[in-house]
Amino acid sequence: MTAGLDPSTIDALLAAARDAAKRAYAPYSHFPVGAAALLPDGRIVTGCNVENASYPLSICAERVAAAKVAELGERTILAIAVTAPKLSPVTPCGGCRQVLNEFHPADQAMPVILDGPDGPEIVTLDDLLPRNFGRPD
Ligand code: THU
Repeated sequence: MTAGLDPSTIDALLAAARDAAKRAYAPYSHFPVGAAALLPDGRIVTGCNVENASYPLSICAERVAAAKVAELGERTILAIAVTAPKLSPVTPCGGCRQVLNEFHPADQAMPVILDGPDGPEIVTLDDLLPRNFGRPD
């Protein structure tokens, strides 16, 4: 167990995130990113960054995954893996940290699995976003 996660779950999340990165639409930055979120029922929901000619309209991989989770009717992400083939490890941007916090489990940490050169590095969302502004419980 690592951060409460089974090694096979970590592997599955990383594999899904790497696969999603292959589908990134990043013709402007040429910086593909993939994310894979774990739902309480074990499903994995992926995202990739989707850029736009109007650059600020681009969406990060983590936010695409979070939006897909919400549309499924889910409100909790147990863990999320993030990968960027060109920068290892990559960490979620500030905006995505805040968006992910909206899906934080009520009673446990949200591990963020960073795809690193020497294997995964696992931090928590609270590590990345201390003293955060969260939704009222
Ligand atoms: N990007 C992500 O998708 N996630 C991150 O955590 C960091 C940045 C995207 C946004 C943009 O499409 C590209 O990477 C370069 O910033």
